[in-house]
Amino acid sequence: MLSNKRPDSMERITTKELADAFIAEQIKEVREQVGDKKVLLALSGGVDSSVVAALLIKAIGKQLVCVHVNHGLMRKGESEDVIEVFRNQLDANLIYIDATDRFLGLLEGVSEPEKKRKIIGNEFIEVFNEEASKLDDIDFLAQGTIYPDILESDGVKAHHNVGGLPEDMHFELVEPVRLLYKDEVRVVGKALGLPSHMVDRQPFPGPGLGVRCLGAITRDRLHALREADAILREEFDICGLSEKVWQYFIAVPDMKSVGVRDDKRYEGWSAIIRAVNTKDAMTATIEEIPYSVLHKITNRITTEVEGINRVLLDLTPKPVGTIEWE
Ligand code: XMP
Repeated sequence: MLSNKRPDSMERITTKELADAFIAEQIKEVREQVGDKKVLLALSGGVDSSVVAALLIKAIGKQLVCVHVNHGLMRKGESEDVIEVFRNQLDANLIYIDATDRFLGLLEGVSEPEKKRKIIGNEFIEVFNEEASKLDDIDFLAQGTIYPDILESDGVKAHHNVGGLPEDMHFELVEPVRLLYKDEVRVVGKALGLPSHMVDRQPFPGPGLGVRCLGAITRDRLHALREADAILREEFDICGLSEKVWQYFIAVPDMKSVGVRDDKRYEGWSAIIRAVNTKDAMTATIEEIPYSVLHKITNRITTEVEGINRVLLDLTPKPVGTIEWE
């Protein structure tokens, strides 16, 4: 039985050298644990599962089977990025499932946030289960459990993340980063050669854009949200705010207002900018965005994104506002 307690003597991994030593040790441990058997991993594209995938590819190559479920609620380009990095660059055994229609079908007309979360979480398990049952001789399941997950919960990354495990699957777990803190996972990811946009990725809720497309999700409003969010990220990259702000995104409420475009009445949704700084997500402060940047973002979103006619800025710290709008 592998230990779930971080030894007091374990040094914090802060350098490439320490990360390389950790990687070598884990490769040995994983090979011993797994032998010539196959390992299944739900690869969301988030930091933890990406680092676990890269580590396991190094340790056991094609014995690792990664499954990426696109629930249709990813940020723009994220599923494509998972395919590019893992299938094309790292030559991973990657099964890609576009389950957009299944998720959006089930979510149709559902406006209550907790219900939306439940539908997304359950359907994720359903899709993952179906895929797993098509595969033969899988004995192990890899997970991106990290140390705070063990400290804060029952050690299973199910309560918060989509990707909670099917409980009736009797796999042995492979959790190579279970004793690491998030900053160490990032250092290890970099040492493994993952691109920085992947290891420095912002936290992203398991239910994805589902918690930012407020109320009942429709395809057109979801599309508008995804495009506006991509513009915000592009502009934050250009002006350097992406290095200074911990988390930033767009939320689009299910509410229209009157506007005018091409001399005609134009009813559209509002895009709300949320940009916060925090250490642990328990409290958060608001990062100042220069007015020139705000004007540029507003101009781009209102001219480039079909359906949006206003851009608003959320200045509420946490507390009293949570980071997400849900
Ligand atoms: P709130 O909205 O509670 O969010 O202030 C705190 C942080 O948690 C993130 N968040 C999630 N992260 N799975 C995650 O891994 C989730 O389901 C989830 N929901 C919210 C949120 O983005 C913020 O960083």
